[in-house]
Amino acid sequence: MGNRQLSQKTAKLYEQIADHVAGLIDGGTFRPGERIPSLRQLSTQKRVSVSTVLQAYSLLEDHGLIEARPQSGYYVKTKSPYSCPEPEISTTVSDPTEISIQELTMMVMHDLFNPNLVQLGAAAPNPAVLPTGKLNRILASLTRRKGDFGIQYDIPSGYKDLRVQIARHMVKAGCSLKPGDIITTTGCIEAIDLCLRAVCRPGDTVAIESPTYFGILQSMEAMGLQALEIPTHPRDGISLEALGFAIEQTPVKACLVISNFNNPIGSCIPDEKKKSLVQLIGEHEIPLIEVDVCGEIYFSEPRPSVCKAYDEKGLVMLCSSFSKTIAPGYRVGWVTPGRISSTIEWLKFTSSIATATFPQLALAEFLDRGGYEHHMKRVRRTYAHNVARMSEAVVRYFPEETRATRPTGGFLLWVQLPKSVDSLVLYKQALRSGITLSPGDMFSSTRRYRNFVRLNAACWTDEIERAIARLGDLIKGQIN
Ligand SMILES: Cc1ncc(COP(=O)(O)O)c(C=O)c1O
Repeated sequence: MGNRQLSQKTAKLYEQIADHVAGLIDGGTFRPGERIPSLRQLSTQKRVSVSTVLQAYSLLEDHGLIEARPQSGYYVKTKSPYSCPEPEISTTVSDPTEISIQELTMMVMHDLFNPNLVQLGAAAPNPAVLPTGKLNRILASLTRRKGDFGIQYDIPSGYKDLRVQIARHMVKAGCSLKPGDIITTTGCIEAIDLCLRAVCRPGDTVAIESPTYFGILQSMEAMGLQALEIPTHPRDGISLEALGFAIEQTPVKACLVISNFNNPIGSCIPDEKKKSLVQLIGEHEIPLIEVDVCGEIYFSEPRPSVCKAYDEKGLVMLCSSFSKTIAPGYRVGWVTPGRISSTIEWLKFTSSIATATFPQLALAEFLDRGGYEHHMKRVRRTYAHNVARMSEAVVRYFPEETRATRPTGGFLLWVQLPKSVDSLVLYKQALRSGITLSPGDMFSSTRRYRNFVRLNAACWTDEIERAIARLGDLIKGQIN
């Protein structure tokens, strides 16, 4: 819708209807505050069922374009949740830099899981949409049926049935994987760590998006790697021009991208651009570590593809996990290492022998017959809704010069505050008000995001709205 235009070939009927109505709103046929056709009118006009129109209108509500008014019908919302501009793209490629954010990261990490704070900091999923009851029942039944197997060591490559499920689910992302192409890991972070260890030595340079997830920077810091930060657009991701230029100038040992719904910036590299990225690294024979932990959390069909889908040379190492979608505490992730599969299997053995057995069994069963698709539909709807609500609140409570991302998936917002705001000072002030957030400096080795914050928009409650309002006051206090 608008810039989230759906491909008409692949869109479902309700999405096509939603797109049609969004087009009428964009084009000014229905203006803010005006009533749009009723469910019955549109169903007659479009010759579709009322429930299809209802689905379309729910989608438009999730995107913050329309609202239902009780006993009255549907109206164009008076203010788009995305009415503030997007953050600026960082314009320069840095020189390779040593990373030293350990102290800052560990300080913030201590607060990130404190239940007494309003948690806007950690990228943890909304507990209300995790399939806790179902997983607990599966696990209880597994302990009866597979107790002996479940408490034994698994093999380093991981539980075969789970790898079968992963291969099947990744068909939707354009991959043709075999179970033997996949190694399970202890979360996505171990998968990333193994890939870096496999292709880099201390002192080597890795090209990364700027900003990027602090866990990746921490793995690199622990390994003594240098970060080459490449400008990244909040919508379509890493700049290929800048990356191509950087690769020409600097010996780069690996590239690392979060291809879909980047943490923190929310960018999603379009499919054609993913192809070009794979071609670029292929020309230089540089391995690409691709992270896709949020690829399944898209707000509009279709699921975005992954770079791995275009990899003919075996240079792409795709890493993911179930932490954002099903169970972060299970600590189950996976990697398809391409041509260095045996090295990664060996490193997995040296790192942790194998991934914990019971969580793998439970996930395999949940993916096979636990209603995964039904569960994910709810997750996507909830996050689309909550991200739109938090975006609205940022517009309402933060100062006018604020810029914020407009993610089309995931559950994070990256917010650019006025230049004079110091997000580390804000972090400490917020803590005193019982709120935690992630300050911008955690997402770069070059400290260039001092006036940015990352907010977790997975949950939306009155308490969270009050926290956003309080942050707004603190920010305004810094600029006055
Ligand atoms: C981009 C990215 N990679 C990796 C991770 C870590 O994933 P896991 O908890 O599966 O280790 C996260 C978690 O926030 C993330 O956002």
